[in-house]
Amino acid sequence: MSHARPTRPTHQTRPASPDAPPRLRSLLFAPAVRPELLAKMPATGADGIVIDCEDATPPNAKAEGRANAARLAPELAGPGCAVYVRVNAVPSEWFADDVAQGLCDALAGVVVPKLESLDQAGRVADALDAAGHAALPILAGLETALGVADARAVLGHPRIHAAYFGAEDFIADMGGVRTAQNQEVLYARSQVALAGRLAGVPVLDQVVTDFRNDLAFEAEVRDARALGYAGKLCIHPKQVALANAGFVPSDEEVEQARRLLAAYEEASARGVAAISFEGQMVDEPLAARARQTLAARGEESR
Ligand code: COA
Ligand code: MG
Repeated sequence: MSHARPTRPTHQTRPASPDAPPRLRSLLFAPAVRPELLAKMPATGADGIVIDCEDATPPNAKAEGRANAARLAPELAGPGCAVYVRVNAVPSEWFADDVAQGLCDALAGVVVPKLESLDQAGRVADALDAAGHAALPILAGLETALGVADARAVLGHPRIHAAYFGAEDFIADMGGVRTAQNQEVLYARSQVALAGRLAGVPVLDQVVTDFRNDLAFEAEVRDARALGYAGKLCIHPKQVALANAGFVPSDEEVEQARRLLAAYEEASARGVAAISFEGQMVDEPLAARARQTLAARGEESR
């Protein structure tokens, strides 16, 4: 399989869904009120694109935003480009109209920001059903103190097929300070990754607002991938290519994984489980990671 995410261990907390999790190395946002930007999104190579009716659409243009979303999503959807609409948060005055008027059958899912409880997720599912979108999955935004603290419960809702961590809203809710070092979000970022793992859904990492800074973006991709993230939210086309490349193991990693497994399996056949390999101790968990690396590139270890 060619999915970017490492193969999962078998102890899932929910029954395996018949639908494979979406492949979302990159999820590109653009404001619902900027049709000229929206039109450029499919050509960026993003795995998913989001027509944003929330933060990127001002309060006085919410009606225009949701009308654009409903009208333009079918034009933007195509093979290899999953289209999402981000509605406003459940408690907001716009949520009901967004669900009733902003969605359409062309969508791969609906992005719900600032999701905070299992009950709220249930209300989203009910609203989608009532609006005639019974099959539409939810991509959950965890980006408030409560949403992050209760991430495991929220992602337990079966309608959720992916989630993201939003650093800017989270730190705003905390009354903290955002820094380039990301120390202030490490706990929350880790918590959301853990919740995604337990729910069996891919998680997408925070936005890099400094969109001309490729080095910062690449560093965040490495950190996010190390924590178990499957992809990254993007706000600019140049971030898409960096995310698509960064969430797949490099050729070097694949070569190293192959060598490691060859040495490990040769030793295992001799009844040895811990070996010295290129200066490091290798045992089963390192072999498991190597197998995941090969699987993430669609290569079998044996
Ligand atoms: N989607 C598609 N195309 C985009 C894009 C996006 N999100 N952001 C920029 N582009 C296009 C521009 O239109 C421009 O196209 P051109 O070469 O045909 O002129 C090209 O990419 C380069 O853009 P650039 O000039 O570097 O950026 P900008 O100043 O036009 O826009 C932002 C910068 C931040 C305003 C814009 O990227 C944006 O609105 N991003 C999304 C913000 C958002 O949705 N936030 C909410 C979610 S967190
Ligand atoms: Mg936000």
